[in-house]
This record gives sequence, C-alpha cells and structure tokens, in this order.
Amino acid sequence: MNKMNKMNKQIITPFTVQADERIDYDKIVNQFGSTKISVKLLERFQKIIGKKIHHWLTRNLFFSHRDLNLILDNYEKGKTFYLYTGRGPSSEALHLGHLIPFMMTKWLQEVFNVKLVIQLTDDEKFLWKSGKLVDFQYLARENAKDIIACGFDSENTFIFTDSNYIKELYPNVLKIQKLVNFNQIKGIFGITQSDCIGKISFPAIQAAPSFYDSFPHLFCENTPCLIPCAIDQDPYFRMTRDVAPKLGYIKPAILHSKFFPSLRGIDKKMSSSDLSSSIYLTDTMEMIKKKINKSFSGGKESIEKHREYGADLEIDVPFQYLTFFMEDDDKLEQIRSDYSSGKMLSGEVKKILIDILQKLVLNHQKKREKISDDIINKFFEK
Ligand code: TRP
Repeated sequence: MNKMNKMNKQIITPFTVQADERIDYDKIVNQFGSTKISVKLLERFQKIIGKKIHHWLTRNLFFSHRDLNLILDNYEKGKTFYLYTGRGPSSEALHLGHLIPFMMTKWLQEVFNVKLVIQLTDDEKFLWKSGKLVDFQYLARENAKDIIACGFDSENTFIFTDSNYIKELYPNVLKIQKLVNFNQIKGIFGITQSDCIGKISFPAIQAAPSFYDSFPHLFCENTPCLIPCAIDQDPYFRMTRDVAPKLGYIKPAILHSKFFPSLRGIDKKMSSSDLSSSIYLTDTMEMIKKKINKSFSGGKESIEKHREYGADLEIDVPFQYLTFFMEDDDKLEQIRSDYSSGKMLSGEVKKILIDILQKLVLNHQKKREKISDDIINKFFEK
C-alpha cells in the first residue's frame, strides 16, 4: 500500500461526514482554512463576558472559528451582533447531537443579550430527500418545539421556515445568486450536473440570513452576525463570506463544533435509520439505560485487565458523552483519572452517564410538552 492509501481519507460536506478512521479535526481546519480557538482567545472571551465560559468551549468541543475575535472586539466597544443558526427538518425526533448547537446558541444569547434568528430549511430537506413538501413543513414546526424547549426567549428569537419566509429573503438570495457560479457550487458542495436545479441554488438561501437586512423587522443598521454550527456547515458560510464584502456586508463570524459521536463508536456515523446509534429526545428512560449500557466502551474485556491497564478514554463513548454533558469540571477530571487508571469500571461510568442523560431528556420532554401552538406562534411572528 502506498502512502496515499494509508492516509485517513475523510469527506466533510454538509451532506456527507465520512472518515476511514477517527475524524481528524486539525485536518478539517487546515482544509477549510478556519482558525482553531486558542487558549488566549478563550481567556479574552471570559474576561469580556465577566463570567465562566461554557464548558463546551473550554473542552474544545466548539474548537474552531472565523472572526470570533472581531465579534468580541466589537462587543467590547459596545457594538452588538446577532446570532444565526438553523436546522434541516428531516425527522420528527431529534437526537442529542442535534441539540448541541442550539444549547450553545442559547448560552450565547443569554450571555450577550442579543437577537437570534433560526432558519428551518424545509426547502433543503424537500430537495435532498424523498417526501412531500407539506411533510417537511410539518416536521419544521414539530422540530421548532424541540428548539423552543431549549429555553430561548421569544422576545429575542425569530424562527422561520424557508418556504414561508422566502419572500423576505428573496432580495438577498438574488444578490447572492448573481455572484456565485455553478463551478463554485460544484467545488464547494460536490453538486453535479445531474442534480436538480433546486440544489444548485439552495446555498444562497442558507447564506441570506447571515445578512442583517434579511430581517427588516429586527435590524435597521448593518449588524454583524455570529453563526454557531457544526463544522460540516462551514462550506455554506465560506461561500457567504466570499460574497459578503462585494455586497457591502460584514462577513459573518462562525463558531464551529465537533460532531457528536455515535453510540456505536466514535468513528461511526450517527444514522437516522439506525435508531440505536443515538439517544433520541423521545426515548424512554429505559431505552436510554439500555442504549448506554450497550454503547461502545474503551474499557478492557476482563476486570483484571481493566484494573491493570485502565480504559482508553479516546474511544470510550460513555466518557466522550460525559465530556459533553457533565458540567462539573472537577468531577469529570476525577472520572478521567480513575477510569483511565483502571480504578473505575466501565459500568460505573455508564451509570453516571445514564443518570445525567435521563435527567436531561426527561427535563426536555417535560418542557416540550408544554409548548402550545400559541407559544410556537410567538417565535414565528414578525
Ligand atoms: N443546513 C442545516 C441542516 O441541514 C440547517 C441550517 C440552516 C443551519 N441554516 C443554518 C445550520 C445555520 C447551522 C447554521 O441542518
């Protein structure tokens, strides 16, 4: 085998996340040309907001950015910005991974007290998947309940579906469409000649909310935008940043997260057709327990061996999940040390995780239940 073949091949686009081995995030940063979040930037962040920054930042789960420093510079000078994130409504039940950008966005909204727009791309899912448009419109509204359940403030949050809000977006969509040609779209998104023409023009629709005047009811002056998202969405915003100055806008800043691992192993993909590869927000407490107990462990096969060698935390899914959902840094460090030395067993770690996830999911389900049509409408109204 030559050297090329041995290299970990990975494909990261908004439509495919694929790696032969573990995802190499440094490689993505190099390929995409984003910037890793440095300790120095985090220290500045903390100083500016005057409180502890989110553990997903300190733990490097949000690990890369574009122009986050400029957002902070401006904020320090008393200038505001707005947040933009979104979801493609492809299924009724969201899994834990889907919540991550929204939970981060919620924290950012609270810390900076800024406006937030959330795009539900019913059009995107209609174009890429099979199904009727009305089905994706329905899913968008169902998914909005899960998003609202994350605790967003309706005064400061505007949620829209593309198929409905397109009239307002269209002037900016047009200006973007005029500046991007088919070759660029082919290069950035891997779209081919035989894809339907809707796919070719869709990226302009995901780009448009990055520009403040797509929301005339919210902003009247050129306001910078910060987009928290998983790093697979970066191609859309590379394109957006490319056209922004040509149209007189500030380039949107981006905050990138890593991918949330599958229960089957950190190198496996979470798949919506494989229900046991992730924890769904609709799972019962019993299902959560079963799934975590069956999840891929980095512990050793026998207790004797485990006590001697300890667990491999890098590949241990329950431990990786704890880095996302155990907020207490000291407790997490204790587990890191005890589990990797073999003092703690895999079953004990799983039990701690089950407890945390059951509480989180139950809490989410209770909040979601209370979201009436009236509440949803408050977020959708202009
Ligand atoms: N394309 C995204 C998805 O499939 C949805 C989306 C639209 C989005 N706008 C966004 C995600 C902005 C992050 C940020 O899930």
